[in-house]
Amino acid sequence: MTNHNTHEDMGLFITFEGGEGSGKTTQIKLLKYYIQSLIPDIEIVISREPGGTEVAEQIRDILVNGSADKISTRAETLLMIASRAEHIDRVILPALKRGAIVLCDRFKDSSIVYQGLANNISKEKIDKIHEFALEKCEPDLTILLDIPAETGIKRAIDRNESDQRFELKGKEFHKRIREGYLKLTTIYPERIKVINASQSVQSISDEINQLITPILKHRRHK
Ligand code: TMP
Repeated sequence: MTNHNTHEDMGLFITFEGGEGSGKTTQIKLLKYYIQSLIPDIEIVISREPGGTEVAEQIRDILVNGSADKISTRAETLLMIASRAEHIDRVILPALKRGAIVLCDRFKDSSIVYQGLANNISKEKIDKIHEFALEKCEPDLTILLDIPAETGIKRAIDRNESDQRFELKGKEFHKRIREGYLKLTTIYPERIKVINASQSVQSISDEINQLITPILKHRRHK
């Protein structure tokens, strides 16, 4: 499994990925409770991208509000990854160095899929920008909540939140997002685990807990 061991920490970095309305936020909360029930004294940091620091949240406002085509794809890519660099430097790496478990709602795979594959920008190009921005901060595990694009988009639009810029990008775009994520699972089969997010909230949570339990047990014995 890829990890951030170059940072000589004991932390654990778990990212959640998936299309719109795949239920990441709910599952992150449930996973936090589950981990706390197993290891009550562990520090768990929940964060999200784009966002997670004051400035990264300001960048998020630019990115997730307004019309679907208000910004060029290249500028959008750089802003997403700039907010990630800020988030890594100020939140993720310090937490991992303290030995915390970081549960992050979206990370680098979102940029590879949303800005890259869905816009016919190669993964290699996005990887090059990440090489500078990530400083080798890689997730230990990524949980991909997979759901048909139509189902997810309907759920997301029904939530009626204001930050719907990406949700307005149309059916074909969101089908490419799902295909892009599934393609990534073939590139990183060790790191990215797919879970069928069309199931009930409880069944999804049970599957995630099953995945995480052996990793936590291993971590306790480090
Ligand atoms: P959220 O709705 O999951 O909070 O994410 C906000 C939107 O930002 C979502 O539509 C996906 C998009 N996004 C990207 O396009 N690239 C990225 O790198 C990230 C982190 C998010």
